[in-house]
Amino acid sequence: MVDKITSLAEYFQKYQESVADPEGFWGKIAESHYWHKKWDRVVDWRFSGPGAPDVKWFVNGKLNITENIFERNMFMRKDQVALIWEPNDPCDPVVHITYGELFDRVKQFANALKNIGVEKGDRVAIYLPMVPELAVAMLACARIGAIHSIVFAGFSATALSDRIIDASAKVVITSDGAYRGAKSIDLKSIVDEAVEKCPSIQKTVVLKHTGDEIKFDAKRDVWWSDLIEGVSTENTATEMDAEDILFILYTSGSTGKPKGVVHTTAGYMVYAEYTFKNVFQYNEGDMYWCTADIGWVTGHSYIVYGPLLTGATSIMFEGIPTFPDAGRFWQTIDKYKVTHFYTAPTAIRALLAQGDKWVTKQDLSSLKVLGTVGEPINEEAWRWYHDLVGKGKCPIVDTWWQTETGGIMISPLAGLTPTKPSLATLPLPGIQPILVDPEGKELKGNGVEGILCIKYPWPGMLRTTYGDHPRCFQTYFSAFPNLYLTGDGAKRDEEGYYRIIGRIDDVINVSGHRIGTAEVEDAINQHPKVVESAVVGYPHEIKGVGIYAYVICDDLTDDEMNTIEDEIRATVTKFIGAIAKPDKIQIVHGLPKTRSGKIMRRILRKIGEGDATNLGDTSTLLDPGVVDEIIAGAKVEVKR
Ligand code: PRX
Repeated sequence: MVDKITSLAEYFQKYQESVADPEGFWGKIAESHYWHKKWDRVVDWRFSGPGAPDVKWFVNGKLNITENIFERNMFMRKDQVALIWEPNDPCDPVVHITYGELFDRVKQFANALKNIGVEKGDRVAIYLPMVPELAVAMLACARIGAIHSIVFAGFSATALSDRIIDASAKVVITSDGAYRGAKSIDLKSIVDEAVEKCPSIQKTVVLKHTGDEIKFDAKRDVWWSDLIEGVSTENTATEMDAEDILFILYTSGSTGKPKGVVHTTAGYMVYAEYTFKNVFQYNEGDMYWCTADIGWVTGHSYIVYGPLLTGATSIMFEGIPTFPDAGRFWQTIDKYKVTHFYTAPTAIRALLAQGDKWVTKQDLSSLKVLGTVGEPINEEAWRWYHDLVGKGKCPIVDTWWQTETGGIMISPLAGLTPTKPSLATLPLPGIQPILVDPEGKELKGNGVEGILCIKYPWPGMLRTTYGDHPRCFQTYFSAFPNLYLTGDGAKRDEEGYYRIIGRIDDVINVSGHRIGTAEVEDAINQHPKVVESAVVGYPHEIKGVGIYAYVICDDLTDDEMNTIEDEIRATVTKFIGAIAKPDKIQIVHGLPKTRSGKIMRRILRKIGEGDATNLGDTSTLLDPGVVDEIIAGAKVEVKR
């Protein structure tokens, strides 16, 4: 089993070791995994030069990640609960799945996928609600070496088809429907619409979940239950190279369509397990609950892979924090005697706003560790989480990481690292952060603020962006030679602790969901009346960042003026999904552009923040008058 650090002094010692001898450090950790063949070299890497990045971990090692979840542990874990499924409606039956049962279901579904022609290296898109079959499907793909590409089931048909097309997925796995609080959503018709544009799709596997009526194409569609009927639960794992792709996960960037972040087998496995164990300080018998959706990286690494590799019991929650009421999280913690609870600052802020009574009503004395992820946590939310939810006795792990990093990078180790509100604190062993100025000059020492980069590879890092390696170099490795660019700004305080300030590019974290402003603009521009748009983030009390769209339209009649905002929101929902709907839409006659036609977003951001006192130099604008017009019509109060 992977070692767990047990004191702060040991953390500092391991950190030093990991920097002085990364190969020795990670090699020793990987020794505890189950390999068909061990590696020849721990790491081979290059962040620059022809074909860069070129990063390989555990070179020529052979393994299968599911053997490390199942076979490696089965003798001791067969009857231990691996997953607990808490349904959307708390009155519906809960599902407990042991490691032994999950193993059988994974092997059976792996065989079923093979039966419909899925082979090693094929891409399988998964568009499912938070049901146990989602974990079964992803692990079954991993078992046979198929590459899963999970798409969050809140994305629209267009967003789904873009992702299927980019990965040329052969099969898509979905359900008849999904519950979202009191509503049910017809997932199958979204998939039907998406696959019309996807010639690569040969089969759609449909799980019966809501029981709602759906259209069924007898040639293309197959029910999950029919697919596994009579299929054997005997299955030998496919041998994978350490660097074979495990999964693709699409994420937004500054420009263009979302890119498929590629994670490979061995490095991701080692990193997911190591970080889970050490950050959360998980012990045998603990009850772990991460509220994320498996459609995002947090769910991949810290609902499924990290916990299951560790042999933990992980709760999968289908519902939302406010259904049937705002006490749902706290009731669920009480119900299962949760010891480790991991959620997003947005959820904390939303529940804080509902008042303390929902929390104090429940017995939360089982809690030992609290975690946050996805966006900076403000001090008020941190204190409420710490003092009221954790009764002042649970350390908070504010975990900074990204889809691209595969696992947690900067975070306290629960109970070992002294915490400070809103600070992600210290890098994990093996992680070498560096702050640079815009010219790429290193900002040494403490008490500095700059652009956060990482200067040495780690096993869980992305290897490429699917189908477009130059884009990977361009996005992450071209700004500063030999550094991985995170896209975040950060401060290193006097003690060497990191505070993540937020994105420095045109990406925004809305309710902890990562959205590219360019993507939202592209979607808005699909509306026939829209001429041009510019989207920025603005401070939002609950969501952290809200979406503010400045939109130029063709001449609008009074009637059209009344409906345009709703129509724009509907357009964004259609092209991306409801998560990207603008909170504020301001119809404008012009945008602040330089003479070369570049939109000065800095000005729009400032106005969105409600502060026009210091707009900087606007003399280079083509038409400085538009700024006054925008301020006058702003959807927030603006200080001049
Ligand atoms: O801006 C940072 C923010 O979320 C971004 C990564 O988003 P995504 O790839 O969707 O992954 C989210 C879950 C790992 C980062 O570039 N972010 C993530 N965690 C934190 C954070 N910002 C501040 N504090 C955090 N703990």
